[in-house]
Amino acid sequence: MISKLLIVAGSLLVITACSETTDTSSNIGEKSVDVNKPAAFSRWYSDRQVKKGRHIFQTHCASCHQADASGTQNWREKDVSGNYPPPPLNGTAHAWHHPLRSLKRTVQAGGVLLGGTMPAFSEKLNDREIEDVLAWVQSHWSDEIYSMWSQRNDQTSK
Ligand code: HEC
Repeated sequence: MISKLLIVAGSLLVITACSETTDTSSNIGEKSVDVNKPAAFSRWYSDRQVKKGRHIFQTHCASCHQADASGTQNWREKDVSGNYPPPPLNGTAHAWHHPLRSLKRTVQAGGVLLGGTMPAFSEKLNDREIEDVLAWVQSHWSDEIYSMWSQRNDQTSK
């Protein structure tokens, strides 16, 4: 009885979602329907940007944020000189709380304005290069983190 209901629910989902999905209909009746699953979305950047950003990150950012963007484990704790260490940018820390334009601003201006120590990159990287490097950074974020970021970002950008 329950599985029959799920199949009915599944086919309803196929009907309502058919403008978005094409190839999942064949197995959807076998699985329970996960209504909490985030809707399909695409990311703002291209594979090409990620590829270019990877190189930029390794050149300019990896020395502090680590080659895999994992940053510093205890990123919430100040170091002996009273400064915050480079945080992870891989989606496990705070970066996903900020809309794209704030992330860009941080890379452009550095952390000095906020009492931090990250250097400014506005002299070294142009707008497009900063977008590329953030594309590479965001390619490390899970779909869950990315969609939460995306929702926040929509709310705050005007
Ligand atoms: C000299 C070390 C250093 C380098 C190089 C560096 N950062 Fe940072 N970064 C930091 C520190 C430290 C912070 C924490 C804020 C502060 O103290 O300024 C930070 C913060 C950030 C944040 C904000 C994260 C958040 O959770 O809000 C972003 C985004 C970021 N860095 C991206 C980059 C990118 C992209 C590059 C390369 C273009 C880069 N950083 C290069 C040290 C560095």
